Amino acid sequence: MYKKARSVLNARINVGYDYNVHFTRGVFSPGNPLLKKVVVSRELRRRHKVIFFVEKEIVLHHPLLPGRISAYCKRHSSAISLVAAPVVMAGGEDGKNFRLIEKMCRIMSDRHLCRQSFICIVGGGAFLDTVGFAASVVHRGIRQIRVPTTVLAQDDSGVGVKNGINLFGVKNFIGTFAPPFAVINDFNFLDTLEQRDWISGVAEAFKVAMIKDAEFFGWLCGSTAQLKRRNRPAMEKLVKRCAELHVMHIQNSGDPFEFGSARPLDFGHWSAHKLEMLSGGKLRHGEAVAIGLALDSYYALEKGLLYRKDFETLLLSLEKLGFALWSDLLLKKDRRGRYVIFSGIQEFREHLGGELHITLPNGLGRKTEVNELDEEILVEGIKYLKRRVEAG
Ligand SMILES: NC(=O)c1ccc[n+]([C@@H]2O[C@H](COP(=O)([O-])OP(=O)(O)OC[C@H]3O[C@@H](n4cnc5c(N)ncnc54)[C@H](O)[C@@H]3O)[C@@H](O)[C@H]2O)c1
Ligand SMILES: [Zn+2]
Repeated sequence: MYKKARSVLNARINVGYDYNVHFTRGVFSPGNPLLKKVVVSRELRRRHKVIFFVEKEIVLHHPLLPGRISAYCKRHSSAISLVAAPVVMAGGEDGKNFRLIEKMCRIMSDRHLCRQSFICIVGGGAFLDTVGFAASVVHRGIRQIRVPTTVLAQDDSGVGVKNGINLFGVKNFIGTFAPPFAVINDFNFLDTLEQRDWISGVAEAFKVAMIKDAEFFGWLCGSTAQLKRRNRPAMEKLVKRCAELHVMHIQNSGDPFEFGSARPLDFGHWSAHKLEMLSGGKLRHGEAVAIGLALDSYYALEKGLLYRKDFETLLLSLEKLGFALWSDLLLKKDRRGRYVIFSGIQEFREHLGGELHITLPNGLGRKTEVNELDEEILVEGIKYLKRRVEAG
């Protein structure tokens, strides 16, 4: 006799993730064992297939890089089986598209990569997002080692668990959650950044400091001159602390894959993402985030969540670093006379699942969440930023 079938089966799966974020210099110097150690860290005796995707812009600044990578792999051939010469492809915001994904998947297929192979990605945040997405869908996920090469990618985007590309005019419309196998932050790469890319990642440090670490905020405000004139130890300290706060958040928030709606690390981002897309990639992510932080901090000020002196200190510090806390796109209106920037709120709401969750500072180093935004206050905020930039 068959038992009566159950009407529900429960599957509860707990999977642990564990990855290290390393800090080093000269990751591809022949005598630096770090990358080799990372590759064999799970299966000591195994030789692994590895392919490198390197952002084109970096090769322009470091023409010897592909050769150095090949030489490194040859030297450590007991662990690394290099399946192809390093693949050099375009990065940047324009590269976050489907066309490049197909090309990348084709290369991974041609090289017969398996789920125990490694894809080592060397590039800025946009390139990591793009190759990372391709790597996460081929064979349902190939191990990825990220070597972020911008301040923003080292202190924020490259150390987390997300990737994505832009589609239908919406930032990161498709993407996956895919924790890296490891992240290797090599500070030497930062030397060749343009000044705007050296600075833009500092906006993410202000973001996380404002909502999580008042002491770090104080240090950032006191270090603007050093940071601006490219003081290496200051920037390395910033990258380490910001990455640490980011990783701690992913580890301890209880929601690394964002099943819920709260998104603290997206403070200042609803308008930043919209501005980036409206600018057609002209504004860097960090530059847009600086404007987004200024606007949402104005909102927090008006709601009594932030002291005026802290608000002023934030804006002054960002300005001293060279951020323009203004874009004419903030004034762009649609045919019905509505500010286009506000569609960023709707896109954020849709992404989150219907209900809006916006993180705001609640005093320095603490945060709160609101479920609606008063557009009248935001319009006042936009006017305030305009007056401020006009006053010079
Ligand atoms: N996945 C996430 O969780 C997450 C989080 C935050 C931001 N992001 C994404 O990250 C991207 C922004 O990253 P970004 O600020 O690194 O921008 P980016 O990748 O566009 O790089 C900025 C510029 O620097 C160049 N570059 C990169 N490394 C260089 C080097 N070492 N020397 C000289 N030039 C170099 C690039 O070619 C590009 O022109 C955005 O697409 C954003 O959406 C993702
Ligand atoms: Zn960001």
